[in-house]
Amino acid sequence: MRTLGLAVVGMGWMGELHTRALLRLPHHYPEVQARVRPVVVADPRDDRRQAAADQYGFARSTAEWRDALGDPGVDIVSITAPNAMHAEVIAAAVDAAKPFWVEKPVGRSPQDAIDAAAAARHGGIMSAVGFDYEVAPAVMRARQLIDDGTVGPIRTYRGHFLADYAADPGVARSWRFVRGEAGSGVLGDLMTHVIDQALLLCGPIDAVVADQATFVTERPEPAAGMAGHFGTAEGTQMAPVENEDHIGALVRFASGARGTLEVGRTVVGRNVQMGFELYGDRAALGWTFQRMNELEVASSAKGAERGFTVTYARDGYGDFSRFQPGPGIPMGYDDLKVIEASRFVRSVLSGQPLRPNIETMAEVAEVMGAIERSVSTGKWAKVGPAT
Ligand SMILES: NC(=O)c1ccc[n+]([C@@H]2O[C@H](COP(=O)([O-])OP(=O)(O)OC[C@H]3O[C@@H](n4cnc5c(N)ncnc54)[C@H](O)[C@@H]3O)[C@@H](O)[C@H]2O)c1
Repeated sequence: MRTLGLAVVGMGWMGELHTRALLRLPHHYPEVQARVRPVVVADPRDDRRQAAADQYGFARSTAEWRDALGDPGVDIVSITAPNAMHAEVIAAAVDAAKPFWVEKPVGRSPQDAIDAAAAARHGGIMSAVGFDYEVAPAVMRARQLIDDGTVGPIRTYRGHFLADYAADPGVARSWRFVRGEAGSGVLGDLMTHVIDQALLLCGPIDAVVADQATFVTERPEPAAGMAGHFGTAEGTQMAPVENEDHIGALVRFASGARGTLEVGRTVVGRNVQMGFELYGDRAALGWTFQRMNELEVASSAKGAERGFTVTYARDGYGDFSRFQPGPGIPMGYDDLKVIEASRFVRSVLSGQPLRPNIETMAEVAEVMGAIERSVSTGKWAKVGPAT
C-alpha cells in the first residue's frame, strides 16, 4: 500500500470534494493500493483552513500556496482555487514534478489550458481534470452503445448545461462574474463540460458558429467572508458583470453529424440541467445529470417500442458496481469525484495517462477558442489554431 501526501490549493466547494474523494479511494478501489494523507491545505481564509484541519485531518495549513507545493511530504496536488490561479499553480507543480488534479476550465482562457497541457506533457507530469459528468456510469454506458454499433452513425447531437445559480439578480458578484478572476463566464464554467461530453460521445468538432449574451449586467458585491456561487448579497454596492451568462452554438462534427450546444447560468427553474440527446440511424440516447442513474434509449429496429425507454445504471455501466450493488439504487455527485480520483491516482502510480486529464482539457479548449472567435466575428469558425 502506497501513501501519497496531498496538498490542496483552494479549500472551497471543490477543494473539499477532492479531499473527500481521495480519502474514500481505498473504500471503493482497494486494488489501487493507495492511501491519501492530507498533508497541507492552502487558502487565504483562516476559517477554511481551520475547517479543513478539523474535518479532514490536514496536518498543517498555510495562506501561501507556494509553501504548500514546496512541502517535501507532498506527492500530489489538488488545484481547486479560482480560475485565475490555475496556470501559475500548474506551472509550479510541473516545476516541482508533482502530479496535479485541477478543476476545469484550467485558467482564464483557452490558451492557458493549451499551454498548461504543453507544460505537463513536456515535464512528463500526470494530471487529471474535473470533468465529473463524463465518468457517470450511464454516460459510460452510452459510450459503450456507440462503440459497439448499437446507435449507428450519429446524425444529430444536442448538448446543454442550463443552470439557475445566477438567475436571481441578487446573487452576489463572486469571482465567477469578474473577468480578471474567472476569465470567461459560462464558456469556462459550463460549456467546458458540454464540449467534453460532445467530444467523448460524438468525436472531434470541425467548426462552430456561436452567439452569447449577458442578461444580468450588474450584481451586488459579496459581503465580507462570502464565497461560493450560490450566495446572495443585500445592501452592498452594485458592480458590473464582466462575462457572459449564456451561449448558444451550432456545431459540425468531423463525422458529418450536426449539433447544438447551449449553456446558461440564468435559466430560471433549471437547477443543474446538464446532459445530452444524440440521435443515430439505429438508436437514440438521452441523459440528464439530475437523473444521472438513468439512460433513455430508443431504437429504430422493426417491432421496437416507438419512443424512449429508461434503463437504470447497473453492474457493467462504468464503475457503478464500485458504489452500489444493483440497479435502481442511486449513486450521487460526490461518487463521480471518487471515480475521477481513482483514475488520477492510478495514472500517478502507473505513469500511464488516463482521461479526463489535461490533454482532454486542451482538446476542449480548442473548441472554446473557436466559439470565442465565432462570437467576435459573427461567422463560422474552424476548430484549431486561429489562422
Ligand atoms: N467540476 C465541476 O463540476 C466544478 C464545480 C464547481 C467548481 N469547479 C471549479 O473549481 C474551481 C473552484 O470552484 P469552487 O466552486 O470550489 O470555488 P469556491 O469559491 O467555493 O472556492 C475557492 C476557494 O479558493 C480559495 N482561494 C482564493 N484565493 C486563493 C489563493 N491565493 N490560494 C489558495 N486558495 C485561494 C478561496 O478562499 C476559496 O476557499 C473553479 O475553477 C471552478 O471552475 C468545478
